[in-house]
Order: sequence, then structure tokens, then C-alpha cells
Amino acid sequence: MANRVALDQELPDISESQALWERAARLIPCGTQTLAKGPTQYVDGVAPKYLARGKGCRVWDVDGNEFIDLTMAVGPVVLGYGHPSVDRAIAEQLESGITFSLMHPLEVEVAELIRRVVPGAESVRFSKTGCDVTSAAVRLARAYTGRDKVLCCGYHGWHDWYIGTTSRRAGVPLASRGLTEVFPYNDLFSLLEMLDDQTACVILEPMIFERPDPDYLRVLKRACEAAGALLIFDEMWTGFRAALGGAQQRFDVTADLACFSKAVANGMPLSVLSGRADVMRLLEDDVFFFTTFGGEALSLAAAKATIEALRDLDVPARLEGSGRQLIDGYNALAAKHGLGHTRASGLPCRALVSFDAVAGDPLLQKSLVQQELLRHGVLWTGFHNLSYAHGTDEIEHVLAAYDRALSVLAAALDTRQLAARLRGRPVQPVFRKTT
Ligand SMILES: Cc1ncc(COP(=O)(O)O)c(C=O)c1O
Repeated sequence: MANRVALDQELPDISESQALWERAARLIPCGTQTLAKGPTQYVDGVAPKYLARGKGCRVWDVDGNEFIDLTMAVGPVVLGYGHPSVDRAIAEQLESGITFSLMHPLEVEVAELIRRVVPGAESVRFSKTGCDVTSAAVRLARAYTGRDKVLCCGYHGWHDWYIGTTSRRAGVPLASRGLTEVFPYNDLFSLLEMLDDQTACVILEPMIFERPDPDYLRVLKRACEAAGALLIFDEMWTGFRAALGGAQQRFDVTADLACFSKAVANGMPLSVLSGRADVMRLLEDDVFFFTTFGGEALSLAAAKATIEALRDLDVPARLEGSGRQLIDGYNALAAKHGLGHTRASGLPCRALVSFDAVAGDPLLQKSLVQQELLRHGVLWTGFHNLSYAHGTDEIEHVLAAYDRALSVLAAALDTRQLAARLRGRPVQPVFRKTT
């Protein structure tokens, strides 16, 4: 029988998942289109590999097992799966059509809505993926400044200008690799050393899990101004989540350009480039950034309904409350089990659970916690990507599941049985490192 969201079950039966994987592994390189959804992030042989359905914050895998989801499609599903007003907007738009031969009024309506809620959005363009808009922003900055050098911090997508800085850069021309340099977060000294009169832009995720030092973002902005470089915020994670107006609103710093995707349309594929009108104006002539599906109407309808729901339900405030409860609850449980080397940190809406190596291999620890959470109906990859649909009952269930999982982790560490307690192959590192 399939598992439910309940405590103390056997590990789920995942035979359908495994059968699909057998077929995929022979046909689809890597087996997945999104690395973070692929099997490297889950205990192989224990965790499900394919989801069939989602509602609210719950998902059902292809074997019928039910889980509370703490990943939420790796960020986009900020209201919950199947949020009624968003689904209604998509269904209504579907009656009229998906994509057309001329522009659609939603392009104007959603751009105006974004101008109202996102600081500094004097001008707005749409595309489909996060790396579409980070790459467009970098191209704009290069065109605006007449310079080539890019300084970046965080993950920004698969395109040459960024991925050439990582270990997975085969196929990226050497000429391109040399143009982007990586700077460490919260380290103004290093950044100032790298920022010069050849720098077109500084692009960063304004916050990942570490909080910006007081004034870090403000000084960064002033330094960019002084060097004649543009400041670009990659708000894939902070956008519409850290606050309705994203990190720019939360930290009260307006970048020259800001890039959004993920939460903007509750799961429909849409990305947004916004910012200074005098920079964005280059898109009218010199800088080319156009794509067939940029004005696709189902996603725009979803974005309109999503932003309105985020605003009307004050979703960022709710995520702040439930996320704080989960972070504090996790850290209290870690203390209860004598596990001072693991903690939850980050923004309440998007937190990370980390394990120090002092106690044992962090990936094995993470794998064991993941495996044990699966017994209690919780799907987890070490993150709290919260949605509006995670209510009090779900947060309490997750904390009860953490209590049991951490007790197993503590016992495994005490008896040096970390690897022996695993029923499958451990998870691999998250691909976010730049070196
Ligand atoms: C911060 C950040 N920037 C850019 C991207 C790239 O977005 P996409 O995968 O939609 O191209 C991601 C994707 O996870 C991201 O997290």
C-alpha cells in the first residue's frame, strides 16, 4: 500500500519510479532536464524519482505515495500546487488561446503590475527562463558600458558567460571564460580589488543563505556607480518571496537591473527583466533579446493571478512566520539531540539545513536525514522552500518528522553507523559551487 503523510512508516514502495528511471537512463542524458530534480539529489533506491501530482504543499509520486513537499518544484510554486485563482486564470486564458501572431494585452497588464510592486522597474521585459534574463542583463550592461568584464556571485544559469566560471565548463570558449570572474559574498575588500574600469557589471544573488552584512549591498551599489559599472540583482530566489518587491524592497537597495523567474507565475514558465529605463532602452535598437514564447499568454495570466494573490494574501509575511517556525524548530531539535553541528539558516521563506564535517561526512548525514524523512511522508533535499500552502499542521508534521530523523542521525553518529544505516546510494553535492 502507498505511504501517506504519516509518521513511522516503512520506506515507500518506489517500483514505478524505478521502472521509469530504467527507461530514462537509456534515453535522456543525465535522466533529467533540471539537475536539482534529478536522482543525484535523492538517496538512490530509496527516494521516489517521479512525481505525478501536487495539491497545496502535498505531492504524490507515480507509486501513489504522498509527501509534504519542502522543495516546491525548486522554487516556483510559492502559493502551492493548483492554487485556485492561478489555475482559474490559466484555464480561462486557455479558452482564448496560448500564444498568438500579435502581442497580447497581458504583456502590458503584467508589465504594469510589476512596475507597481518591484522597486526600480521603470522598464520591463519578459522571457521564459532565469538564464534568459540574467544573460540579457549582462548583455545590456556590456552594451551600456562598452566593457566586457563581468563579476558574479551565486548561480546564474547555463549560458557561456556564467557557466564558464564553474567546473562544468566544457564547450565554453576560452575567450568567454576569461571575461567573467567570481567574487565571494559579503567580502567587499575582494570585490573592490576586482572592480575596475573594465567592469561592465556586478551581478549577484542579493542573498542566498547568508545575510548581507549591514550596508553590504548599499556599498556595493556605490562602488559600482564609482567604477561606472552596472549593479544587477539576480532575484530568482528572493523575488516575490523575500518581500513582494523582492530583495530590493527587503534590503532597501535598488539595483540598475533586476532579474526574476521562479515564483513570479507559481510554476508557469516566465522570467522578467526589469530596471532603469535608460539602460533597458538599448533593447529597442542595439541589443537583441527576442524569443518566440516571450509573450506566451498562459504564463502571463498565471503571473497576473500569482502576483495579485501574493499581494492580497500577504504571502511574504506568512512565509516569514511559518519559515521562522521551521528554522527555530529545527535548531531546537538539533540541540535536543545533541547535534550542535547541524543547523537551519537563511531567510524564513528559503532556508538551508547544513551539516558540518566534524561529526561525519555531511552528504551521508544529509542522506540519512532525507531517508528517514521519507518514512514520515516528507520530501526534502536540505531546503525549506516554503509556500502559502504550508499551514500549521504541515509545519508541525515536518517538525515531528525532523525529531525522529534527527534521533536516528544522532544514534548513527554515536555508533559510527552512518553509512550502514543508509538503504541506498547517498546524495551528491548540490551543483552551485563556482570552483
Ligand atoms: C539564482 C538563480 N539564477 C538563475 C537561475 C537560472 O534559471 P533557469 O534555470 O530558469 O534558467 C537559477 C536557477 O535555479 C537560479 O537559482
